[in-house]
Amino acid sequence: MSEKILVTGGTGYIGSHTVVELITQGFEPIILDNLSNSHEGILDAIQDITGVKPAFYKGDCRDAAIYDKIFSSHQISSVIHFAAFKAVGESVHKPLAYFDNNINGLNQLLIAMDKFSIRNLVFSSSCTVYGDPDDPVVTEETPLKDPQSPYGFTKLAGEKMLENVVRHKKQMRVALLRYFNPIGAHPSGKIGELPQGIPNNLLPYITQTAMGIREKLAVFGNDYATSDGSCIRDYIHVCDVASAHVSAITMMHKKEEAFIDAINIGTGKGTSVLEIIRIFEEVNAIEVNWEFAPRREGDVPEIFAKVDKAEHVLNWNAKFSVRDAVKDAWEWEKKYRKQ
Ligand code: NAD
Ligand code: WQD
Repeated sequence: MSEKILVTGGTGYIGSHTVVELITQGFEPIILDNLSNSHEGILDAIQDITGVKPAFYKGDCRDAAIYDKIFSSHQISSVIHFAAFKAVGESVHKPLAYFDNNINGLNQLLIAMDKFSIRNLVFSSSCTVYGDPDDPVVTEETPLKDPQSPYGFTKLAGEKMLENVVRHKKQMRVALLRYFNPIGAHPSGKIGELPQGIPNNLLPYITQTAMGIREKLAVFGNDYATSDGSCIRDYIHVCDVASAHVSAITMMHKKEEAFIDAINIGTGKGTSVLEIIRIFEEVNAIEVNWEFAPRREGDVPEIFAKVDKAEHVLNWNAKFSVRDAVKDAWEWEKKYRKQ
């Protein structure tokens, strides 16, 4: 019988790709999502790709009753907790909503896991916990900084809560996956990123500009101390991020003792904003209308991951290139707009 994994936020961007990867690798994902940033049609898309429609519970991660229902109906071995609000700019205006959803949501999940003796958890963390590092190449030992945004604070707070739970209760196995910049979409073009309103992130802004939905991409800053003056990030294909979760689950199932491990999920390579635009134009044979604009407040000039720990602990590394990711992002944008 296949292992059942609860995936909170499983109809979201990274969650849906992870659900596909779990099914493909023989697991049985059970999704809990309140559809605040996704929709139920994703379940049909997952079925189109995998042949399996996962069990779905429409509900909220802050609701104790929904966990009672799920955990008493299914023998769940592990939880992957994606559900959260993730818009950095919005969090500045609505810090309390972010604390409630992201921190209280995690706390309710932990209470329910404790009640039902479920020990394995993969937590969605972020490179935002490193803030603006002194060295742009970050290892898991790089000191964590006080995050600039309430969103970033919720990720750091989540990590700290989990560290405390493991230290004092000594019964959980926890992987903190610190994603760098997930981009792209499933190569089938059936699932991908669904930004609401004007995108904050670079890739959706590029695809919407290429599509003619946005007039011009603003490149934030041309005078950073980088090779071409624009910021550098570690862009990673969302399918690689998804497969890292399955590797984390597999690793956990082999362990007996309690532990907590933070692991960078990136490619180990930095790419500048101008390079991303150039690669996007070249791979997709389409021009992107762009211009330089002032720096965006809070942007880190350069950051990318050292990924040795992921290779060593998870036996995982990124398989897709940035070229693959921008191609898949563009295919998704075109297909999605036709729907
Ligand atoms: P997303 O918004 O696409 O997915 C989150 C999903 O969770 C959505 O389907 C939403 O409806 C659901 N959700 C939110 N609050 C909920 C609640 N209270 N109860 C039930 N469902 C709820 O976001 P994503 O990009 O897939 O991100 C997933 C996780 O990864 C988040 O925790 C995010 O902070 C983290 N993360 C994302 C990125 C990124 O760039 N996308 C980078 C680093 C970390
Ligand atoms: C990438 C680069 C921008 C838009 C964010 C969160 C981080 C994590 C990942 C969740 C930067 C530039 C962007 C645009 C631009 N998420 N840019 N014009 O800021 O690295 O990280 O997503 O945990 O916490 O902060 O990603 O995609 O917003 O920006 O020039 O219209 O693209 O300045 O250099 P970021 P991003």
